[in-house]
Amino acid sequence: MSDKHTAAPSGSKISIHTLHAKKTRGEPITFLTAYDFPTAAALDRAGIDGILVGDSLGMVVLGYENTLPVTMQDMLHHCRAVSRGASRAHLVGDMPFMSYQASTAEALRNAGSLLQKGGMDAVKLEGGRERAQVIRAIIAAGIPVMGHLGLTPQSVHKLSGWKVQGKSPEAARAIIEDALILEDAGCYALVVESIPVEVAELITKRLDIPVIGIGAGIGCDGQILVTHDLLGLFDRFTPSFVKKYADLFSSMQRAFSQYIEDVKARRFPGAEHAHTMDSQAYRRLVQEIDMPGDSADRDEDSTTQYH
Ligand code: KIV
Repeated sequence: MSDKHTAAPSGSKISIHTLHAKKTRGEPITFLTAYDFPTAAALDRAGIDGILVGDSLGMVVLGYENTLPVTMQDMLHHCRAVSRGASRAHLVGDMPFMSYQASTAEALRNAGSLLQKGGMDAVKLEGGRERAQVIRAIIAAGIPVMGHLGLTPQSVHKLSGWKVQGKSPEAARAIIEDALILEDAGCYALVVESIPVEVAELITKRLDIPVIGIGAGIGCDGQILVTHDLLGLFDRFTPSFVKKYADLFSSMQRAFSQYIEDVKARRFPGAEHAHTMDSQAYRRLVQEIDMPGDSADRDEDSTTQYH
């Protein structure tokens, strides 16, 4: 019996060409984040176009205040898990803070690692014109780069918090100029985060490459959210632009409470959750170990029924 919710979508691997063709056709592009094997597998089977192993994992998986403490080791660990879970979706690995800012050589090595060791198809990094040179170098090495403009979480202190960007004409113009510079540098796609709908629409119309929005309105070529926000799995805060499709944190807490109550009340494990010995083998065992007071004939009234 086929189940439309679990059957893997047919079709080949989503490539950069597929994403560009979707933009040309005006077909919305779907992205979500994942950090582990089962989530990647579920997203892949649901038919997502792209999975970002975002450095948001620092907050929603590792419990940091922001994304700044995330390391290349963290990213590689989670990228590998995601790449084992997804075979069809386009996979993007986030370059963590200070993995591409110090030198081009280091940026190249780290970007290469995300593909070579992490199993990613592309990398994403934050910033505009100030990153054009390093982006060109990474692309020249054969590594596709997705840009990220607007609210760039690795600059949270420079931006004085998690604020909508590009609200004044000057700020909006700087973001639009940066978007054009990133496209010219060779980025194959661009994420725009927390910018006004109007600015996101202008960028989407101006650029030939797909523009993926998060908190940037409906006018983008595609959308991305942090999966833990969409699932209601991150209880610290939920940005206003998130639509919650589930409340998994509450569901998990309810399930854990029920388990704790069951164990305390000896309702779990039941007979159906336990392994048993053949009764003859059990009798022989009791005789052999000659345990005084341990009857080979089990008490029929016992609450633990083995056979
Ligand atoms: O790290 C991340 O999850 C991201 C998305 C918010 C785009 O960069």
